[in-house]
Amino acid sequence: MNGKRTRIYEGKAKILYEGPEPNTVIVHFKDDATAFNAEKKAVIEGKGVLNQRISEHIFLKLNEMGLPTHFLRSLNMREQLVRSVEIIPLEIVVRNVAAGSLAKRLGLEEGTPLPRSIIECYYKNDKLGDPMVNEEHITAFGWATPMEMDDIMHMSIRINDFLSGLFLGIGIKLVDFKMEYGRYIENDMMRVVLADEISPDNCRLWDIKTQQKLDKDVFRRDLGSLTDAYQEVARRLGIIQPGEAPERAKPKLVKTDS
Ligand code: TMP
Ligand code: ASP
Repeated sequence: MNGKRTRIYEGKAKILYEGPEPNTVIVHFKDDATAFNAEKKAVIEGKGVLNQRISEHIFLKLNEMGLPTHFLRSLNMREQLVRSVEIIPLEIVVRNVAAGSLAKRLGLEEGTPLPRSIIECYYKNDKLGDPMVNEEHITAFGWATPMEMDDIMHMSIRINDFLSGLFLGIGIKLVDFKMEYGRYIENDMMRVVLADEISPDNCRLWDIKTQQKLDKDVFRRDLGSLTDAYQEVARRLGIIQPGEAPERAKPKLVKTDS
């Protein structure tokens, strides 16, 4: 069946296919993990399923609270149907605690709480390594209008508040996360909506008691099993039950007596 679909684009972690309805796209979550602009790569069985299910859970809740997203519905464990949007070429990062590139750039110890949440914008361009930009660059080069940036900033603050509470409730600190937005036309009006995904691939999630990392830093920094970390997040969110295999496609080892 996959062979008959029209592939629109393949990225590092996802493939986009033409959707079955007008103005829709199918997003297929791959098991590929990359870090440092794809300098480090691996295939981690089950990662795509876990990310699809976690992102579905979060986007459904955001839609319910009236925060517009591209998400329409999940099609299966690995794929979702989304609105076809024009991606705004920005990566919007919200930070609550110093970590990663911010800690490095400003010489802060990882884990230092920030005086308030900080929003950063990066120009989405792999060739340039996603450089940090400000609203001057964004509006001067026409990547987004001042009105769109207002919407993006307000939505990002709401999403951060909501996600911080959601994760706090399951003993996890939302250290920082990355979002992408898209635009589409509805009733002759251009609308900005949250796009891409929100999963442990693009968040930093630390266990509140132990500070254990439950996100892609496990892969970036070789800290152990990425699947175990993502499964723990899915379990705490109530997406998978204790003992449930997150993905059904996994081949089973048939034990034979030797
Ligand atoms: P950073 O500290 O490396 O700038 O990352 C900030 C947040 O953004 C962190 O939660 C990881 C996420 N992120 C992505 O989702 N994609 C990326 O390419 C990078 C560099 C970071
Ligand atoms: N987006 C980065 C890459 O492709 C990964 C990351 O550090 O999150 O390699």
